[in-house]
Amino acid sequence: MATHVRQESKLALVKPPHNVPVPFVNTPTIRLINQKSFQAVTGASILEVSEAAGLTLEHSCRNGRCGTCRVQVLKGRTVALISEESLTPQEKSEGWILSCARSAESDLHLAIEDVGTAGIPGKTLPCRIDSLELSASDVMKVVLRLPVANHPSSRFRYLGGQYVNVIAKNGQGRTYFIANSQAGCSEVNEVNEVKLELHIRRVTGGVVSTYWFEAARINDLLRLVGPLGTFFLRECSGRDVVFLATGTGINPIKAMTGDSDELLPAQRPRSVTLLWGGQCAGDLYWAPESVELIYTPVLSRLSIHDKAGWRGAEGPVQDMLLQEHNEHPHDWAHTQFYACGSTNMITSTRNHLTAVGLPVMHFYSDAFVSSATATLATDFGSSP
Ligand code: FES
Repeated sequence: MATHVRQESKLALVKPPHNVPVPFVNTPTIRLINQKSFQAVTGASILEVSEAAGLTLEHSCRNGRCGTCRVQVLKGRTVALISEESLTPQEKSEGWILSCARSAESDLHLAIEDVGTAGIPGKTLPCRIDSLELSASDVMKVVLRLPVANHPSSRFRYLGGQYVNVIAKNGQGRTYFIANSQAGCSEVNEVNEVKLELHIRRVTGGVVSTYWFEAARINDLLRLVGPLGTFFLRECSGRDVVFLATGTGINPIKAMTGDSDELLPAQRPRSVTLLWGGQCAGDLYWAPESVELIYTPVLSRLSIHDKAGWRGAEGPVQDMLLQEHNEHPHDWAHTQFYACGSTNMITSTRNHLTAVGLPVMHFYSDAFVSSATATLATDFGSSP
Protein backbone atom coordinates (compact mmCIF):
# COMPACT_ATOMS: atom_id res chain seq x y z
CA MET A 1 0.00 0.00 0.00
CA ALA A 2 1.55 3.27 -1.05
CA THR A 3 1.11 5.85 1.63
CA HIS A 4 2.53 9.31 1.38
CA VAL A 5 0.79 11.23 4.07
CA ARG A 6 2.66 14.29 5.15
CA GLN A 7 2.54 14.36 8.91
CA GLU A 8 2.30 17.81 10.40
CA SER A 9 1.29 18.67 13.93
CA LYS A 10 0.04 21.78 15.65
CA LEU A 11 -0.53 23.60 12.42
CA ALA A 12 -2.47 26.80 12.55
CA LEU A 13 -6.07 26.52 11.45
CA VAL A 14 -6.39 27.40 7.79
CA LYS A 15 -9.85 28.77 7.33
CA PRO A 16 -11.71 27.15 4.47
CA PRO A 17 -12.80 29.50 1.74
CA HIS A 18 -16.35 30.58 2.40
CA ASN A 19 -16.91 32.65 -0.71
CA VAL A 20 -15.10 31.86 -3.90
CA PRO A 21 -13.16 28.56 -3.75
CA VAL A 22 -9.66 28.82 -5.23
CA PRO A 23 -8.96 25.64 -7.21
CA PHE A 24 -5.48 24.24 -7.74
CA VAL A 25 -3.94 24.95 -11.13
CA ASN A 26 -4.06 21.22 -11.69
CA THR A 27 -6.91 20.37 -9.36
CA PRO A 28 -6.27 17.08 -7.58
CA THR A 29 -8.93 14.41 -7.80
CA ILE A 30 -10.03 12.56 -4.68
CA ARG A 31 -11.24 9.03 -5.43
CA LEU A 32 -13.12 6.68 -3.08
CA ILE A 33 -12.99 2.88 -3.17
CA ASN A 34 -16.47 2.76 -4.70
CA GLN A 35 -14.99 4.74 -7.64
CA LYS A 36 -16.85 7.96 -6.85
CA SER A 37 -14.62 11.02 -7.12
CA PHE A 38 -14.57 14.77 -6.57
CA GLN A 39 -12.14 17.64 -6.95
CA ALA A 40 -10.00 19.15 -4.18
CA VAL A 41 -10.09 22.84 -3.26
CA THR A 42 -7.08 24.62 -1.75
CA GLY A 43 -7.46 25.14 1.99
CA ALA A 44 -10.73 23.20 2.21
CA SER A 45 -10.92 19.88 4.01
CA ILE A 46 -11.63 16.65 2.17
CA LEU A 47 -14.92 16.44 4.09
CA GLU A 48 -15.97 19.93 2.97
CA VAL A 49 -15.21 19.37 -0.69
CA SER A 50 -16.96 16.00 -0.66
CA GLU A 51 -20.11 17.73 0.62
CA ALA A 52 -19.79 20.46 -1.99
CA ALA A 53 -19.74 17.65 -4.56
CA GLY A 54 -22.92 16.14 -3.10
CA LEU A 55 -21.27 13.19 -1.35
CA THR A 56 -21.54 12.43 2.36
CA LEU A 57 -18.53 10.94 4.13
CA GLU A 58 -18.72 9.74 7.72
CA HIS A 59 -18.29 12.62 10.13
CA SER A 60 -19.51 14.16 13.35
CA CYS A 61 -17.64 16.93 15.23
CA ARG A 62 -15.83 18.45 12.20
CA ASN A 63 -12.95 19.63 14.38
CA GLY A 64 -10.56 16.69 14.58
CA ARG A 65 -11.64 15.45 17.98
CA CYS A 66 -14.18 12.63 17.63
CA GLY A 67 -12.36 10.43 15.09
CA THR A 68 -15.56 9.52 13.23
CA CYS A 69 -14.16 10.74 9.89
CA ARG A 70 -10.92 8.71 10.05
CA VAL A 71 -9.94 7.23 6.72
CA GLN A 72 -6.86 5.47 5.38
CA VAL A 73 -5.01 7.04 2.46
CA LEU A 74 -4.17 4.38 -0.13
CA LYS A 75 -2.32 6.79 -2.42
CA GLY A 76 -1.44 10.48 -2.50
CA ARG A 77 -0.40 13.33 -0.23
CA THR A 78 -2.45 15.39 2.20
CA VAL A 79 -1.77 18.41 4.35
CA ALA A 80 -3.15 19.03 7.84
CA LEU A 81 -5.37 22.08 8.35
CA ILE A 82 -5.98 21.46 12.05
CA SER A 83 -4.55 19.09 14.65
CA GLU A 84 -5.74 15.47 14.43
CA GLU A 85 -6.19 14.86 18.14
CA SER A 86 -8.16 11.66 17.87
CA LEU A 87 -5.55 9.72 15.86
CA THR A 88 -2.84 7.74 17.62
CA PRO A 89 0.79 8.02 16.42
CA GLN A 90 0.54 4.46 15.12
CA GLU A 91 -2.60 5.23 13.11
CA LYS A 92 -0.87 8.26 11.59
CA SER A 93 2.14 6.14 10.67
CA GLU A 94 -0.22 3.67 8.98
CA GLY A 95 -1.68 6.40 6.76
CA TRP A 96 -4.88 7.16 8.66
CA ILE A 97 -6.07 10.76 8.44
CA LEU A 98 -9.16 12.71 9.48
CA SER A 99 -11.09 13.93 6.46
CA CYS A 100 -12.34 16.97 8.42
CA ALA A 101 -8.77 17.98 9.23
CA ARG A 102 -6.85 17.51 5.98
CA SER A 103 -6.78 18.85 2.48
CA ALA A 104 -5.48 17.07 -0.63
CA GLU A 105 -2.03 18.03 -1.95
CA SER A 106 -2.12 15.58 -4.85
CA ASP A 107 -4.53 13.10 -6.42
CA LEU A 108 -5.82 10.90 -3.61
CA HIS A 109 -7.23 7.40 -3.31
CA LEU A 110 -9.08 6.91 -0.02
CA ALA A 111 -10.14 3.58 1.51
CA ILE A 112 -13.69 4.71 2.18
CA GLU A 113 -17.10 4.78 0.54
CA ASP A 114 -19.58 7.60 0.88
CA VAL A 115 -22.69 6.83 2.93
CA GLY A 116 -24.89 6.92 -0.16
CA THR A 117 -28.31 8.51 -0.16
CA ALA A 118 -29.00 7.71 3.49
CA GLY A 119 -28.01 11.16 4.70
CA ILE A 120 -30.84 13.63 5.28
CA PRO A 121 -30.06 17.34 4.78
CA GLY A 122 -30.14 19.36 7.99
CA LYS A 123 -32.32 22.43 8.43
CA THR A 124 -32.99 25.06 11.08
CA LEU A 125 -36.33 24.91 12.87
CA PRO A 126 -38.01 26.49 15.87
CA CYS A 127 -39.02 24.11 18.66
CA ARG A 128 -40.57 24.26 22.11
CA ILE A 129 -39.85 22.32 25.27
CA ASP A 130 -42.65 19.80 25.61
CA SER A 131 -41.55 18.19 28.87
CA LEU A 132 -38.70 18.08 31.36
CA GLU A 133 -38.03 15.31 33.86
CA LEU A 134 -35.00 13.65 35.41
CA SER A 135 -34.13 10.32 33.82
CA ALA A 136 -31.25 9.83 36.30
CA SER A 137 -30.01 11.93 39.22
CA ASP A 138 -27.79 14.00 36.90
CA VAL A 139 -29.48 13.41 33.53
CA MET A 140 -32.42 15.51 32.33
CA LYS A 141 -34.86 14.05 29.83
CA VAL A 142 -35.93 16.89 27.56
CA VAL A 143 -38.64 16.39 24.95
CA LEU A 144 -38.66 19.02 22.20
CA ARG A 145 -41.81 19.63 20.15
CA LEU A 146 -41.32 20.67 16.54
CA PRO A 147 -43.90 22.63 14.52
CA VAL A 148 -46.79 20.70 13.02
CA ALA A 149 -46.01 19.97 9.37
CA ASN A 150 -48.64 20.67 6.72
CA HIS A 151 -48.11 17.25 5.22
CA PRO A 152 -46.36 14.02 6.34
CA SER A 153 -43.77 14.55 3.57
CA SER A 154 -42.62 17.83 5.12
CA ARG A 155 -42.17 16.42 8.61
CA PHE A 156 -38.73 16.65 10.19
CA ARG A 157 -37.00 13.41 9.27
CA TYR A 158 -33.90 11.80 10.73
CA LEU A 159 -32.22 8.46 11.27
CA GLY A 160 -31.69 6.87 14.67
CA GLY A 161 -28.13 7.75 15.73
CA GLN A 162 -28.13 11.32 14.38
CA TYR A 163 -27.96 14.43 16.54
CA VAL A 164 -29.23 18.01 16.59
CA ASN A 165 -27.63 21.30 17.55
CA VAL A 166 -29.98 23.01 20.01
CA ILE A 167 -29.60 26.76 20.42
CA ALA A 168 -30.69 27.72 23.91
CA LYS A 169 -32.35 31.02 24.93
CA ASN A 170 -29.00 32.66 25.59
CA GLY A 171 -27.91 31.95 22.01
CA GLN A 172 -25.46 29.21 22.98
CA GLY A 173 -25.64 26.02 20.93
CA ARG A 174 -24.97 22.49 22.12
CA THR A 175 -25.33 19.21 20.28
CA TYR A 176 -27.33 16.26 21.57
CA PHE A 177 -28.11 12.85 20.16
CA ILE A 178 -31.79 12.15 19.53
CA ALA A 179 -32.78 9.25 21.77
CA ASN A 180 -36.07 8.21 20.17
CA SER A 181 -36.46 6.71 16.71
CA GLN A 182 -38.50 8.33 13.94
CA ALA A 183 -40.97 5.46 14.31
CA GLY A 184 -41.28 6.38 17.99
CA CYS A 185 -42.15 9.94 16.95
CA SER A 186 -45.05 8.89 14.77
CA GLU A 187 -46.44 6.76 17.55
CA VAL A 188 -46.27 9.74 19.85
CA ASN A 189 -48.22 11.97 17.55
CA GLU A 190 -50.30 11.35 14.42
CA VAL A 191 -50.77 14.99 13.35
CA ASN A 192 -47.34 15.39 11.79
CA GLU A 193 -45.91 16.86 14.96
CA VAL A 194 -42.48 15.44 15.76
CA LYS A 195 -41.18 15.13 19.29
CA LEU A 196 -37.49 14.61 19.93
CA GLU A 197 -36.27 13.02 23.15
CA LEU A 198 -32.87 14.12 24.50
CA HIS A 199 -31.13 12.97 27.68
CA ILE A 200 -28.76 15.69 28.87
CA ARG A 201 -26.12 15.08 31.52
CA ARG A 202 -25.47 17.82 34.04
CA VAL A 203 -22.05 19.44 33.60
CA THR A 204 -20.91 21.30 36.69
CA GLY A 205 -20.59 24.97 35.79
CA GLY A 206 -21.71 24.35 32.20
CA VAL A 207 -23.55 27.40 30.89
CA VAL A 208 -26.07 25.46 28.86
CA SER A 209 -26.29 22.66 31.40
CA THR A 210 -27.32 25.21 34.01
CA TYR A 211 -30.10 26.34 31.69
CA TRP A 212 -31.48 22.83 31.27
CA PHE A 213 -31.37 21.98 34.96
CA GLU A 214 -32.32 25.30 36.53
CA ALA A 215 -33.93 27.74 34.12
CA ALA A 216 -35.67 25.79 31.37
CA ARG A 217 -39.46 25.87 31.40
CA ILE A 218 -42.16 24.01 29.48
CA ASN A 219 -42.95 25.84 26.20
CA ASP A 220 -39.64 27.72 26.09
CA LEU A 221 -39.02 28.61 22.44
CA LEU A 222 -35.64 27.37 21.12
CA ARG A 223 -34.07 26.66 17.74
CA LEU A 224 -32.45 23.51 16.49
CA VAL A 225 -30.32 22.58 13.50
CA GLY A 226 -30.43 19.03 12.22
CA PRO A 227 -30.40 16.19 11.68
CA LEU A 228 -26.60 15.96 11.75
CA GLY A 229 -23.99 13.21 11.71
CA THR A 230 -23.58 9.88 9.97
CA PHE A 231 -23.84 7.51 12.93
CA PHE A 232 -26.85 5.43 11.93
CA LEU A 233 -27.73 1.82 11.22
CA ARG A 234 -26.33 0.52 7.93
CA GLU A 235 -27.76 -2.25 5.76
CA CYS A 236 -27.29 -5.24 8.08
CA SER A 237 -29.36 -8.16 6.80
CA GLY A 238 -27.89 -11.52 7.81
CA ARG A 239 -25.17 -9.96 9.99
CA ASP A 240 -24.77 -9.77 13.74
CA VAL A 241 -25.20 -6.24 15.05
CA VAL A 242 -23.45 -5.32 18.31
CA PHE A 243 -24.03 -2.01 20.11
CA LEU A 244 -21.69 -0.78 22.84
CA ALA A 245 -22.39 2.36 24.87
CA THR A 246 -21.22 4.05 28.01
CA GLY A 247 -23.28 6.61 29.94
CA THR A 248 -25.41 8.88 27.78
CA GLY A 249 -23.77 7.30 24.74
CA ILE A 250 -26.83 5.03 24.90
CA ASN A 251 -29.00 7.77 23.37
CA PRO A 252 -28.15 7.29 19.68
CA ILE A 253 -28.12 3.54 20.18
CA LYS A 254 -31.55 3.62 21.81
CA ALA A 255 -32.84 5.35 18.67
CA MET A 256 -31.00 2.89 16.42
CA THR A 257 -32.57 -0.09 18.16
CA GLY A 258 -35.93 1.53 17.40
CA ASP A 259 -34.98 1.70 13.71
CA SER A 260 -33.77 -1.91 13.86
CA ASP A 261 -37.15 -3.04 15.23
CA GLU A 262 -38.84 -1.48 12.18
CA LEU A 263 -36.83 -3.45 9.62
CA LEU A 264 -38.68 -5.83 7.34
CA PRO A 265 -37.91 -9.54 7.88
CA ALA A 266 -35.61 -9.66 4.83
CA GLN A 267 -33.62 -6.67 6.14
CA ARG A 268 -33.18 -7.93 9.66
CA PRO A 269 -29.80 -8.72 11.21
CA ARG A 270 -28.99 -12.24 12.37
CA SER A 271 -28.81 -11.04 15.96
CA VAL A 272 -28.74 -7.77 17.92
CA THR A 273 -26.64 -7.42 21.08
CA LEU A 274 -26.31 -4.43 23.39
CA LEU A 275 -23.79 -3.79 26.15
CA TRP A 276 -24.36 -0.60 28.14
CA GLY A 277 -21.97 0.49 30.83
CA GLY A 278 -22.52 2.90 33.71
CA GLN A 279 -20.89 3.68 37.01
CA CYS A 280 -23.89 2.80 39.16
CA ALA A 281 -27.28 1.18 38.57
CA GLY A 282 -28.96 4.60 38.58
CA ASP A 283 -26.95 5.58 35.48
CA LEU A 284 -28.77 3.00 33.37
CA TYR A 285 -31.98 4.97 32.89
CA TRP A 286 -33.46 2.91 30.08
CA ALA A 287 -34.12 -0.78 29.43
CA PRO A 288 -34.72 -2.12 25.93
CA GLU A 289 -38.11 -3.69 25.34
CA SER A 290 -37.31 -5.73 22.23
CA VAL A 291 -37.37 -9.44 23.06
CA GLU A 292 -34.97 -10.10 20.17
CA LEU A 293 -32.24 -7.88 21.60
CA ILE A 294 -29.65 -9.56 23.84
CA TYR A 295 -28.92 -6.96 26.52
CA THR A 296 -26.14 -6.94 29.10
CA PRO A 297 -26.04 -3.99 31.52
CA VAL A 298 -22.56 -3.46 32.93
CA LEU A 299 -21.45 -1.47 35.98
CA SER A 300 -17.84 -0.38 36.14
CA ARG A 301 -17.81 -0.89 39.91
CA LEU A 302 -20.54 -2.36 42.08
CA SER A 303 -21.40 -0.42 45.21
CA ILE A 304 -22.79 -2.25 48.23
CA HIS A 305 -26.13 -0.72 47.36
CA ASP A 306 -25.97 -1.97 43.74
CA LYS A 307 -24.79 -5.47 44.66
CA ALA A 308 -28.21 -6.42 46.04
CA GLY A 309 -30.16 -7.95 43.20
CA TRP A 310 -27.76 -6.87 40.40
CA ARG A 311 -28.13 -9.21 37.45
CA GLY A 312 -25.76 -7.56 35.02
CA ALA A 313 -21.99 -7.69 34.69
CA GLU A 314 -19.22 -5.78 36.46
CA GLY A 315 -16.11 -4.14 34.98
CA PRO A 316 -15.19 -1.93 32.04
CA VAL A 317 -17.81 -2.57 29.38
CA GLN A 318 -15.28 -3.08 26.59
CA ASP A 319 -13.46 -5.72 28.68
CA MET A 320 -16.75 -7.55 29.08
CA LEU A 321 -17.04 -7.81 25.34
CA LEU A 322 -13.62 -9.36 24.90
CA GLN A 323 -14.13 -11.65 27.86
CA GLU A 324 -17.32 -12.96 26.24
CA HIS A 325 -15.45 -13.39 22.97
CA ASN A 326 -12.73 -15.41 24.68
CA GLU A 327 -15.32 -17.70 26.26
CA HIS A 328 -17.50 -18.02 23.16
CA PRO A 329 -15.59 -16.91 20.03
CA HIS A 330 -17.74 -14.62 17.96
CA ASP A 331 -18.07 -14.42 14.15
CA TRP A 332 -16.65 -10.89 13.91
CA ALA A 333 -16.16 -11.16 10.14
CA HIS A 334 -19.95 -10.98 9.73
CA THR A 335 -20.64 -8.38 12.39
CA GLN A 336 -21.43 -4.68 12.33
CA PHE A 337 -20.29 -2.87 15.45
CA TYR A 338 -21.66 0.46 16.71
CA ALA A 339 -19.98 2.22 19.65
CA CYS A 340 -20.71 5.50 21.43
CA GLY A 341 -18.72 6.77 24.41
CA SER A 342 -15.33 8.27 25.11
CA THR A 343 -12.65 8.51 22.43
CA ASN A 344 -10.37 6.26 24.49
CA MET A 345 -13.04 3.57 24.84
CA ILE A 346 -13.78 3.70 21.13
CA THR A 347 -10.14 3.57 20.07
CA SER A 348 -9.29 0.65 22.34
CA THR A 349 -12.44 -1.27 21.34
CA ARG A 350 -11.76 -0.75 17.65
CA ASN A 351 -8.15 -1.89 17.99
CA HIS A 352 -9.12 -5.02 19.93
CA LEU A 353 -11.97 -6.03 17.66
CA THR A 354 -10.17 -5.48 14.38
CA ALA A 355 -7.36 -7.65 15.81
CA VAL A 356 -9.83 -10.54 16.29
CA GLY A 357 -11.41 -10.26 12.85
CA LEU A 358 -13.92 -7.38 12.74
CA PRO A 359 -13.55 -5.59 9.35
CA VAL A 360 -12.56 -2.01 10.19
CA MET A 361 -15.15 -0.79 7.66
CA HIS A 362 -17.85 -2.33 9.84
CA PHE A 363 -16.89 -0.43 12.98
CA TYR A 364 -19.07 2.67 13.33
CA SER A 365 -18.69 5.10 16.19
CA ASP A 366 -19.35 8.52 17.57
CA ALA A 367 -17.43 9.91 20.51
CA PHE A 368 -17.92 12.28 23.42
CA VAL A 369 -15.62 15.25 23.22
CA SER A 370 -15.31 18.01 25.78
CA SER A 371 -17.25 21.25 25.60
CA ALA A 372 -14.20 23.51 25.59
CA THR A 373 -13.61 23.53 21.86
CA ALA A 374 -15.89 20.98 20.35
CA THR A 375 -19.19 21.25 18.61
CA LEU A 376 -20.22 17.70 19.42
CA ALA A 377 -21.48 16.22 22.60
CA THR A 378 -20.79 19.25 24.67
CA ASP A 379 -23.01 19.29 27.71
CA PHE A 380 -24.35 15.90 26.90
CA GLY A 381 -21.77 13.56 28.09
CA SER A 382 -18.81 13.15 30.28
CA SER A 383 -20.14 10.01 31.78
CA PRO A 384 -17.95 7.21 30.39
S1 FES B 1 -15.61 14.67 12.19
FE1 FES B 1 -13.48 14.57 11.92
S2 FES B 1 -12.73 14.12 13.89
FE2 FES B 1 -14.85 14.42 14.22
